[in-house]
Amino acid sequence: MSYGRNSQYDDCFDTRTSLQFYLDLARETTGDVLELGVGTGELLFKIAKQGRDVWGIDRSSEMIKEAKKKRRNYYPEISGRSRLVVADMLSFDLGRRFGFVYGASSSIQGDSADDLRGIFRTAADQMVEGGTLAFDIMSPHNLRRTVNVPPEERELPGGRIVIRFVAQSYFDGDETAAFNILYKEHIPGRTKHDTHREEAEVAIITPGVIDDALDYAGLSRKAMYGDFAHSPYGEESMWIVVVAEKDQA
Ligand SMILES: C[S@@+](CC[C@H](N)C(=O)[O-])C[C@H]1O[C@@H](n2cnc3c(N)ncnc32)[C@H](O)[C@@H]1O
Repeated sequence: MSYGRNSQYDDCFDTRTSLQFYLDLARETTGDVLELGVGTGELLFKIAKQGRDVWGIDRSSEMIKEAKKKRRNYYPEISGRSRLVVADMLSFDLGRRFGFVYGASSSIQGDSADDLRGIFRTAADQMVEGGTLAFDIMSPHNLRRTVNVPPEERELPGGRIVIRFVAQSYFDGDETAAFNILYKEHIPGRTKHDTHREEAEVAIITPGVIDDALDYAGLSRKAMYGDFAHSPYGEESMWIVVVAEKDQA
C-alpha cells in the first residue's frame, strides 16, 4: 500500500496470514533476499533466520527505524546478515542481484496502477536470471465496496488498549479505494484518549494489469492464487497472490 502505517501499531494489528506462504517460498529459492516495503521487518527477519542474507527497503524512515529497533531487541543474531535501507521501490539501486524479491501485505499496491511497471522493472534489474518475484495485493472484488470494518481492540505493552476503526470507500470513476483509519488509545480507567488518524488511497489492480507490467519488466508469471493457501484466483477472491520468474536474457 502506498501509505506508511502507523509504525507503533503495525505489529499488533497484523494477522500475518501470509507468513507461512512467504517462508515456504523463500525455502524454494536461492541467493540474497529483498523485501519491497519491509515495514517493521517481521517477515524478513524470519526469512533471515532460515540462514539467508536479506535486505529490506521502505520509503518510510519511521518504519526503518522501528525495524532496526525490533532487530536489535528481538533478532540480534541476524543483524550481520540483514540490511535495512530507506528507499523508494519505484527507483532504487542496491548494487547487487537478488534471488528472491517479494512485496508482502499489499506493499506494492500504490495509488496508481501505472506504478507497477516501474516497480517490476526496477526489481527485475536487480534480480538474477531465473530469480523469483512474489507479491500479494488486495483483489478488485475486495476493494470495490464501501464498508465500515468492525472495530478491533488490542492490548499494548504496559496495559494500554488501542482500538482501530477502518472505513473503506470505493470510487468507481477512477477505480481507486480509500481507507480512513482511526486508532484510539487509552489506559483502562482513565478518561484521556490519544487519537491517531491515517488515510490511504490504493489503485484497483486487475490480473490483466499485472500480466502487462510483468511482461514489460521481463518477468513471467508462474502462479496466481486467490489466497495464501494456494487456492486458484477467481473473480470472488479477496487477494491476488503472484509468483513470477525473471526471464533468461
Ligand atoms: C502495508 S505495509 C507492509 C509492511 C510489510 N511488508 C509487512 O508485510 O508487514 C506497506 C509498507 O510499504 C511501504 N511502502 C509503500 N510504498 C512504498 C514505496 N513506493 N517504496 C518503498 N516502500 C513503500 C510503506 O511505507 C509500508 O511500510
